[in-house]
Amino acid sequence: MENLVLYRKYRPQTFADIIGQEHVTKTIQNEIKSGHAAHAYLFSGPRGCGKTTTARVIAKAVNCLNRAANSGEPCNRCANCVEIQSGRAIDLIEIDAASHRGVDDIRELREGIKFAPAKLKYKVFIIDECHQLSKDAANALLKTLEEPPAHAIFVLATTELHKILPTIMSRCQRFDFRKLSLPELVGRLQKLADNEKIKVEKAALELIALSAGGSVRDAESLLGQILTLAAQKKSAIAAGDIREFLGMTETKSAAELTRFIAEKNAAAAISHLNEIIEKGYDVAEYGKSLLNYLRHALVLAIVGPKDAKNDNIMIAGLTDEEFEILRTQTLAMGEEKIKNIIDIFLEAQGKIKYSPIPQLPLEIALVESCSR
Ligand SMILES: Nc1ncnc2c1ncn2[C@@H]1O[C@H](COP(=O)(O)OP(=O)(O)O)[C@@H](O)[C@H]1O
Ligand SMILES: [Mg+2]
Ligand SMILES: [Zn+2]
Repeated sequence: MENLVLYRKYRPQTFADIIGQEHVTKTIQNEIKSGHAAHAYLFSGPRGCGKTTTARVIAKAVNCLNRAANSGEPCNRCANCVEIQSGRAIDLIEIDAASHRGVDDIRELREGIKFAPAKLKYKVFIIDECHQLSKDAANALLKTLEEPPAHAIFVLATTELHKILPTIMSRCQRFDFRKLSLPELVGRLQKLADNEKIKVEKAALELIALSAGGSVRDAESLLGQILTLAAQKKSAIAAGDIREFLGMTETKSAAELTRFIAEKNAAAAISHLNEIIEKGYDVAEYGKSLLNYLRHALVLAIVGPKDAKNDNIMIAGLTDEEFEILRTQTLAMGEEKIKNIIDIFLEAQGKIKYSPIPQLPLEIALVESCSR
């Protein structure tokens, strides 16, 4: 439950609160400030990076009754802003094209669009996942975009830009939203945790951010679940807690395997691998996490430990203890050997899918790297 609350609770209500998309929000604010908002916007980008959020801020800003003359931001206090924010504005129409993809849905929209807004200055139509519209529906939408009434503003959003008709694209002002970087996500999560008055270690936040893959929504949702879990916990939430939650003991296990390789102990390495597989780990996923660990080692060997730990996003998500182990192993093996081992495991990784026994390629790779 809490996780739902979290990303609703913190949905940005102004352009300034939307992080990482300044190339979009600055331009749109300037347009609104000068009274030249476009009639159709097309937002593309991965999920959970602010498309719907931005569309709703636009709806408020163009309809705001108190907007300062030199600002493109909504006031968030006037009747219109409040109505939109509470989700009650009938002139803000949100259509999910994934479930309303037919030509009838768009026809209805085309009929409705002729009428002036009931209360607001502008009717704002947000069409989410608009690449999912059927061909007829897309063509009907195109007709509307060709001659939109002065009181209408369209915001089309899509995660798959290449599926949008070029004719629709050319009618819209296009903005590409980007995935958020790891430090950006960590900063955002830190702010939310502070706000909720819960202590979370930086390595833990990094792990959450890593597993979210650039999506703010996924990161916030995961943080929410973990905050719920940790509500009774007195000490700060640590990287280990997150790993446990995500079912990740890979780092520890990868460190073990790397140690066996360094000691040329093939028997121990193979039995460790099989213990892990028996626990139900997916072999390919496990192979990937091992490669990831070795990659950390390589990065560390190249940049040196002094520069590596401090905010180096290439080796994020490690606790101090794990970093210390990695550092020792890196020193013991050296750059050449690490490169060699990575080559061996890279080749093995490609074979997992086609192997009759999934872990066999990894076993061979272990034997091979132990004999070097
Ligand atoms: N750029 C961003 N800055 C701040 N929060 C964001 C951003 N993008 C997404 N979020 C968070 O994720 C939630 C969902 O974002 P949303 O705008 O619906 O993403 P989508 O791009 O899938 O439409 C928001 O409520 C907000 O909490
Ligand atoms: Mg959305
Ligand atoms: Zn307002």
